[in-house]
Amino acid sequence: MTNTSPPHHVAIVMDGNGRWASRRFLPRIAGHKQGVDSLKRCARACDARGIKVLTVFAFSSENWQRPQEEVSGLMDLFAIALGREVPQLKADGVQLRFVGERQGLSSRVLKGIEQAEAATAANQKLVLNVCFNYGGRWDIVQAAARVAAQGLVMTEQSLSQMMSLAHVPDPDLVIRTGGEQRISNFLLWQSAYSEFFFSDKLWPDFDEAELDRAIQSFGHRDRRFGRVSGQSRADAAPTVAR
Ligand code: FPP
Repeated sequence: MTNTSPPHHVAIVMDGNGRWASRRFLPRIAGHKQGVDSLKRCARACDARGIKVLTVFAFSSENWQRPQEEVSGLMDLFAIALGREVPQLKADGVQLRFVGERQGLSSRVLKGIEQAEAATAANQKLVLNVCFNYGGRWDIVQAAARVAAQGLVMTEQSLSQMMSLAHVPDPDLVIRTGGEQRISNFLLWQSAYSEFFFSDKLWPDFDEAELDRAIQSFGHRDRRFGRVSGQSRADAAPTVAR
């Protein structure tokens, strides 16, 4: 059985900015700047296609290991882009959420994050989760620590409730651009039953046509969630509690 409606939640590993720049003999940060434009275009396109949640991997826990110049360039770009783009995102009905470890971020970036979240908190059209200083393993560990700190019994449900994306359903479709086919410590917990689409396009070149190809491919997937094809959720044998 295939999917007739678009994915509710799309998550993207926006890979390929550096290569996009290098191929044009430009500094890598020029690729990241184009990446911001590509993200704006993509958010608008997702909204136009009825997608309700978009989650993007903007800076991983491991990206601190990049050359100092690139890390500080990305931090500057992030702070500048937040200041510049939030009014339009607010007007477009986008709710911005930042997901990741906040300790260790500069006060300038933290201020931008807090202001962007406060300014767009009431918006409902599209939730845009920006994973920043994020790692899937970090997320699982912080959730487990919170379960333990609250003295709760460790179950899939209690852990899920403490994960950093507990405010949205799990991603239906995970897209990775840039030609690599790996998860790179992105949504390890949340992507358990996501469909994957790998695009050879570099992130700055990711356009509406490529998004449509990903959605079309998703439309042909038979999502069984461990059941058999065509079986409804109601028709499942009783399971042991997890
Ligand atoms: C991966 O490409 C991309 C990143 C590590 C950064 C992505 C960041 C943005 C698109 C900017 C987001 C900004 C805001 C305001 C949300 P890469 O550098 O690994 O590319 P490569 O594989 O070609 O080297």
